[in-house]
Amino acid sequence: MAKKKQIPTLIDCDPGIDDALAIALALASPELDLRAITTVNGNVPARWAYRNGCRVVSFLGMHLRSPRPLPAVYPGAGRPLGGGRVDRKISVSIHGEDGLGDLFRKRKPPAPGLPNKNRLPDESRVASQGIESSQVIVSLSRSLGSALSIIAIGPLTNLALAVRRDRMALAGVGRIVVMGGAAQMPGNASSTAEFNVHCDPEAAELVMNCGAPITMIGLDVTRRAVLPSRSLRGGGEFRGALRDLVRPYIGFSKRRRGVDGVTLHDPLAVAAAMEPGLVGCLRRKVSVECGNGPARGMTVVDLRPGAGAPVSHTRRVEVAMEVDEKRFLRLFLSRLRAYRGWS
Ligand code: BDR
Ligand code: CA
Repeated sequence: MAKKKQIPTLIDCDPGIDDALAIALALASPELDLRAITTVNGNVPARWAYRNGCRVVSFLGMHLRSPRPLPAVYPGAGRPLGGGRVDRKISVSIHGEDGLGDLFRKRKPPAPGLPNKNRLPDESRVASQGIESSQVIVSLSRSLGSALSIIAIGPLTNLALAVRRDRMALAGVGRIVVMGGAAQMPGNASSTAEFNVHCDPEAAELVMNCGAPITMIGLDVTRRAVLPSRSLRGGGEFRGALRDLVRPYIGFSKRRRGVDGVTLHDPLAVAAAMEPGLVGCLRRKVSVECGNGPARGMTVVDLRPGAGAPVSHTRRVEVAMEVDEKRFLRLFLSRLRAYRGWS
């Protein structure tokens, strides 16, 4: 049988527990050819996002049953486009102090003979210091054009800087799948704003209206994508590591929402990039509130009747409003079998 063509993909992220799970899904999925991981200030400061990205990719790489080329990880923007600071109180209570539930804190540098579970992954294999994330986004967008998918699962600062560098490059990619915003749901960082957009509303406004084909995977659908804690019980060393990883997230969900599970915001964006049929979308204009009032960071999705009609001078975003969450969870769990120590 002919091999299905892989989609060259770049993930822009701020790891983050669910970012790590999203990268795990992408690396375990034969549909995607993961070319680069760019990192940004968000759940953790930019420097940590870069370090966490390197650790996550090398940790996953060392557990993959069938090794594959690992994407290089790049450092990115340290400050929101509109200035100011990211309020990280909420992130610390969800993702833990280091962003990854302290998963790597007790591990030691690589040494022969040390069992995997005690080893710190060898980050030097994937670390790529010399070139900055927005530059990588532009250069992959230029070289791959409509073949490239970008999955953005952190604040949109790197993508906005890429738009500033070369708007046409971004407008020419195949698809940008953004985890961020909400059409009808309240926010999770403020009563009106979702976290990724809340961190950098000016960047989100620029990206949402840059002319690129965008799919918005917001809280309307991600809130329904919950991985129950019981799915992580038992298994081998890798599943045990995922249990450690998600511990603070589950604690937060139980306290805040009475839910015993992890909300898979970022993995749903990866799944939607591979299988667009998982989500049902409305094509709508999306504006981001950039004022300093209580609605700062709110995504305003025009849901009035007739608002989806084609109007050439306004931009349109595919806004996900429905999700087949059972199919998504099946896909997510089945892909984790690609890792040694999952079962
Ligand atoms: C988003 O916020 C972050 O904390 C998560 O990683 C996800 O990207 C959900 O609102
Ligand atoms: Ca994220």
